[in-house]
Amino acid sequence: MASSDRGQWSSRFGFILAAAGSAIGLGNIWRFPYSAGEGGGGIFVLLYLFFVIAIGIPVQFAELSVGRTTKRNPVGAFKALAPKSLWPIVGGLGVLTGFGILAFYSVIAGWTVGYLYQGISGGLASITTGEQSVDLFTQITTDPLIAIGLTAVFLVLTVLVVRGGVSGGIERIAKVLMPVLFALLVVLAITAMTLPGGMDGVAYLFAPDFSELSLPVVMSALGQALFSLSLGMGAMITYGSYFPDDANLWQSGVLVGICDTVIAILAGLIIFPALFSQGMDPQGGPGLVFVTLPTIFSAMPAGQIVGTAFYFLLAIAALTSTISLLEVVVCYFVDERGWSRTMAAWVLGGVCLVLAVPSALSQGAVPALGANGIFGAWDFLTLNNNIWGNYSLSIGAIMICLFVGWKWGIPKAMEALELGNHPMPATSLWGFLVKFVCPIAVFIVLVFIIVSGQYF
Ligand code: PHE
Repeated sequence: MASSDRGQWSSRFGFILAAAGSAIGLGNIWRFPYSAGEGGGGIFVLLYLFFVIAIGIPVQFAELSVGRTTKRNPVGAFKALAPKSLWPIVGGLGVLTGFGILAFYSVIAGWTVGYLYQGISGGLASITTGEQSVDLFTQITTDPLIAIGLTAVFLVLTVLVVRGGVSGGIERIAKVLMPVLFALLVVLAITAMTLPGGMDGVAYLFAPDFSELSLPVVMSALGQALFSLSLGMGAMITYGSYFPDDANLWQSGVLVGICDTVIAILAGLIIFPALFSQGMDPQGGPGLVFVTLPTIFSAMPAGQIVGTAFYFLLAIAALTSTISLLEVVVCYFVDERGWSRTMAAWVLGGVCLVLAVPSALSQGAVPALGANGIFGAWDFLTLNNNIWGNYSLSIGAIMICLFVGWKWGIPKAMEALELGNHPMPATSLWGFLVKFVCPIAVFIVLVFIIVSGQYF
């Protein structure tokens, strides 16, 4: 497709909201607290913050510069910059990873819809104890029809927006609801921290216990930094490809990174105080956030309304992320294979639903797919979460850095980042991080994990 009819964000603000919409999602509110809980709290958070700055932002700039220059999907972008080479395979891996992530992400996103329904129908209002909350979670996640049905509902919503194209669908939703989500999170964090025992949760989140430091924790913090910023699979190549020529790209990227990180920390400031005040275990796994939150709502005035609003906004935050995941895959089939947008969105959404079924069934519906079933200590959903969300994104991040640093070249990437006359500070530091620090550091972590066999 000619670049002129691809559409673009209506403004820099549109990009920031859409990219923040992609970045902010279940990764911040579901995955961050759950990984932090399993990773020992403060030490995980410290590593995560370090990786966001030292690896996340440099990789993000690398992806955005490639997208802006080529105005293509990840595969097309590598083809354009390195024709007749093997580099487009990296783009292909990104498209595949987008699919892999969407196939488990939409399951969790489906749960948010289930909770939203419970909020509206009053089921949420009757929950006052931790046990009741566990029961509700079990009910939503272990009934195969509910679990698959909710996943399907979510994928259909995603398809409907992606079909509408860039500024028609994605941007309009993100613009209005992201700020509302932020305000609600602040209110919830204050409520949670003032619960009895709440401050113990804050200490757990921020006081690093160095005895908890281990390779799997380093890997999981690295994966989380990439996952949360939507990096390592070309989502930011795709979103950068719609960036207006005169606007400030690097500054917009930094802003997105800051918003994303603030929201993750805010989520932690809700979940851990709530958890500690209930005497629950931080290592609750994928259900952690879903089980913890209803008990805070019951402690609040107008809790049912707040809870319902929360799940509505969480579903929207998840939607702006699933949109970006499907968008990468759709964009590839539209640009490179000549499919119509509508057909690509429906067909790929449908295939994704089929791939999501085992994850949807893994939380109790089919015990063999669960933890201690055929996948050992991991249930199928967690397995996917780790393979696509940690390992595959890490490999993608190494490759994009190698490409920009060594093949395409830092000066050309700089040109794209500064286009529109927006000089960037610390450019040589960025070049150094992209050429050396990011690829080497991520490679070392992966090699150590493989050699040690401590996958988690
Ligand atoms: N960043 C999203 C989130 O935190 C997930 C995502 C990962 C989206 C990779 C796109 C690409 O929820």
